Amino acid sequence: MTTEFILNNKTIRTSLSPGMSLLDFIRYEQYLSGTKIGCREGDCGACTILIGEPVNGGMRYKSMTSCVTPLGNARNKHVVTIEGVNFDERLNPVQQAMVDNGGTQCGFCTVGFVVSFVGYCLTAEKPDVEGAVSAIDGNICRCTGYKSIERAAADITVMLEGKDLENPIPWLTEAGFLPEYFNGIADRLRKMEQPKKPVNGRVVVGGGTDLYVQRHDDMLEEEIALIFDRQELNSIHMKGNSVVMGASATATDMMESDIMKGIFPNLYAHMKLISSTPIRNMGTVGGNIVNASPIGDLTAWLLALGTVITLKAPDGNTRSMPLKDFFLDYKVLNKKEDEIVHSFSFPIPDKDMRFNFEKVCKRTYLDIASVNSAVQMKVEDGIITHFCMSAGGVGPTPRILPETAAFLIGKQPGTALLTEAADIIASEISPISDVRGSSDYKRLLLRQLFFAHFLELFPELINPKELV
Ligand SMILES: Cc1cc2nc3c(=O)[nH]c(=O)nc-3n(C[C@H](O)[C@H](O)[C@H](O)COP(=O)(O)OP(=O)(O)OC[C@H]3O[C@@H](n4cnc5c(N)ncnc54)[C@H](O)[C@@H]3O)c2cc1C
Ligand code: FES
Ligand code: FES
Repeated sequence: MTTEFILNNKTIRTSLSPGMSLLDFIRYEQYLSGTKIGCREGDCGACTILIGEPVNGGMRYKSMTSCVTPLGNARNKHVVTIEGVNFDERLNPVQQAMVDNGGTQCGFCTVGFVVSFVGYCLTAEKPDVEGAVSAIDGNICRCTGYKSIERAAADITVMLEGKDLENPIPWLTEAGFLPEYFNGIADRLRKMEQPKKPVNGRVVVGGGTDLYVQRHDDMLEEEIALIFDRQELNSIHMKGNSVVMGASATATDMMESDIMKGIFPNLYAHMKLISSTPIRNMGTVGGNIVNASPIGDLTAWLLALGTVITLKAPDGNTRSMPLKDFFLDYKVLNKKEDEIVHSFSFPIPDKDMRFNFEKVCKRTYLDIASVNSAVQMKVEDGIITHFCMSAGGVGPTPRILPETAAFLIGKQPGTALLTEAADIIASEISPISDVRGSSDYKRLLLRQLFFAHFLELFPELINPKELV
């Protein structure tokens, strides 16, 4: 297969394996050494690039970590490395802001920060310091202590005042943030030959954020099926009384979906607890489910919503089941090898239904949970009428807690009831001791998260002091 895309200002046509990491292609095939190799696990941000594609007459750019991005996912897109935003005669204003504020010391992380900030300049709708700092949540710096980089973020925000939101690229080229060639990229991409058939193979690749961490060395040789850009797998839409989400929708797609924003008032805050901006731009819901990690965050979300999963066989036949029945044992799924996850659907909650997500990890951001949990519940006339709570990290599979739900439904929430219910939760879980904490610690965490759900959703019904 030929992969065609634009790398900075250069059109690339390559028949190298679509499973090669984009980082290796950029550094070892194109000799662009500005993009650094740090962790090779999507964690440090030293290899951050931007990937853009034409959307609604303009371009939409997202930051991604190239170490866990398959080359094939660049097809028909614009890949931007640090070299693509450099100017010969002067620094880019983002680079200048980093220099002016002492935001760089050894410099190893700096390219990643600069590329993430340029991504922010391209996408920010209401530039502010909080948003600019958020854009670098996937970049780690060992030297500066971040304060100088935050000051650079503040300077960049000021420089973006007056940005033309309708036509950001002409404005940014005029203001000297981007080289002139950016103005012609959308047209060049539209003229590019569209893929004639999907890339099919043995190993299904979504965003690659699990596969390239776990099996980086094999991916070059693997026969892969690229599904990240398959249109029928990408949409989030309503169908009848349900929300349907394609398996290749990303965490960012969920965050940006008007449907999801309408249903989940705390969507942004909850999603910010999951990985980092570049990983949310890449990691798909299907990948999170099939990875079958007991602590997958999107898995915990979907379980609490009473989600149904639909699988598709190569002959086009589909079958569906409650997501809770998809997880059979540790990393054992109710899925045939050649089936792909097609979509998820969950009932549109009525206005009285409330949802909450909690996650405890060693770091607040950019960390995998020790224990996570989501809940959907309803209290009507003081009585619990619906309760579905998921629990991750407390057994071989992510799961829901049916016995606890059966105990709570039909009762009036109060401190005594919750304390009793917490004992039932303890009997429904079987955590093991590992690097994320001892078994006892995880039991305690889930108990606290259970209380946290009620305190967050129905603070008027519970006295926190009595729960301590
Ligand atoms: C730095 C970093 C931080 C992370 N932080 C978090 C976090 O906070 N919370 C969290 O839950 N996860 C986290 N992850 C894990 C990962 O990002 C998520 O699990 C993500 O949703 C995986 O999706 P993907 O598309 O990248 O999966 P991929 O790597 O593409 O695929 C994962 C597995 O799923 C299979 N697969 C993918 N899509 C399908 C499909 N449609 N049908 C059948 N099989 C499929 C693949 O074959 C593979 O076995 C993190 C990862 C990294 C690298
Ligand atoms: S090398 Fe660390 S995120 Fe890619
Ligand atoms: S400047 Fe050295 S790691 Fe950031």
